[in-house]
Amino acid sequence: MNYRHSYHAGNHADVFKHAVLLRMVRLLQRKDAPFCYLDSHAGTAMYDLQGEAASKTGEYVDGIGRLFDRDDLPGLFADYRDAVARHNPSGSLRLYPGSPQIVADALREQDRMILSELHPEDAATLKSQFDSQPSIAVHERDGYELPKAFLPVAEKRALWLLDPPFEKTDELDRCVEMVQLAIQRMRQTVVALWYPIKDERLLRGFYRNMSEAGLPKVLRIELSVRPTDTRLGLNGSGLMLVNPPWPLWEELDVALPWLAGMLAQSGEGGWRMDWLAGQP
Ligand SMILES: C[S@@+](CC[C@H](N)C(=O)[O-])C[C@H]1O[C@@H](n2cnc3c(N)ncnc32)[C@H](O)[C@@H]1O
Repeated sequence: MNYRHSYHAGNHADVFKHAVLLRMVRLLQRKDAPFCYLDSHAGTAMYDLQGEAASKTGEYVDGIGRLFDRDDLPGLFADYRDAVARHNPSGSLRLYPGSPQIVADALREQDRMILSELHPEDAATLKSQFDSQPSIAVHERDGYELPKAFLPVAEKRALWLLDPPFEKTDELDRCVEMVQLAIQRMRQTVVALWYPIKDERLLRGFYRNMSEAGLPKVLRIELSVRPTDTRLGLNGSGLMLVNPPWPLWEELDVALPWLAGMLAQSGEGGWRMDWLAGQP
C-alpha cells in the first residue's frame, strides 16, 4: 500500500467527488428517516495543504484552490466550498477535509457512519479524530469487506462511497463485484464509485461490466481537465452512481459544464453524463 491521499487532497478529482458526495447527502436528508454512510476507503479526516506531501505536488492549487475564494459559485459548489471554509476560519485555505469529515459535518442526530481504512497510520488518526462521536465507527480493515459485513443496514437507507487507490490492476473488476454484492444484499443502496481517467481504453471493459452487472440504475458522470490523450496521469475522473437520488442528474446537467470550465488545465475541459442502466 503505497498510496497516500495527502499528496492529492483537494485536487480536481477531490473537488468533483466531494461536491457530488455532499449533494447526495443533502438530497438523502430531505427525508427525516435516518441513513447510514459507508466510506470503505476513507483516508483520513483532515489534510494540511501546506504540509510536506500536498506542497510537494501542489495539486490542490488547480482544484479547491480555483474555487475557494470565488463568490459566484453555483449552489451545489457553494455548499461544498462552505464545507471546506468552515475548517479555515481565517479565510485563507490551509486545511482540506476528506470525505469522512465532509459527511461527518453534515450528519444529523439520526444518521450514522461506518468508516474503514487499511493504512494503520491513517486508521489511527481517523479513530482519534472521531473518538468522541458515538455515531461514527472506524474500522482498520479491508474496505471491500464492508458490504458483506454491514449490509443491509437497520436504517434501510445507505450511501456507500467506494474510493479505492487503484494501485492493483484488478481493482476495477473488484469494484464491480462488490457493488453487485452490495445491491444483492440491499437493493436500494446508493453507491458512489470513484474511478480515475488516465487512458480511456482501459475503462472500456469496466463500462461494459457496470452496464451488464444487473444493477437497478447506474448514472455515469465524468469530468476531464485535459484531453485524455495529451499525457499520462490523472486527466480526469468519474463517478458511477448507483441509485442516485432525484433530481441529482438534473442539477448536474448544469453543474458539470460549469465545473469543467472552472477546472480545465488545457483546452476547455470535458464532462459527460449518461445512464448505463435503468434510465428513469
Ligand atoms: C483515494 S484515498 C481515499 C480518499 C477519501 N475517500 C476522500 O475522498 O477523502 C484511498 C484510501 O484507501 C486506503 N486503502 C487502500 N486499500 C484499502 C483497502 N483494501 N481497504 C481500506 N482502505 C484501503 C488508502 O490507504 C487511502 O487512504
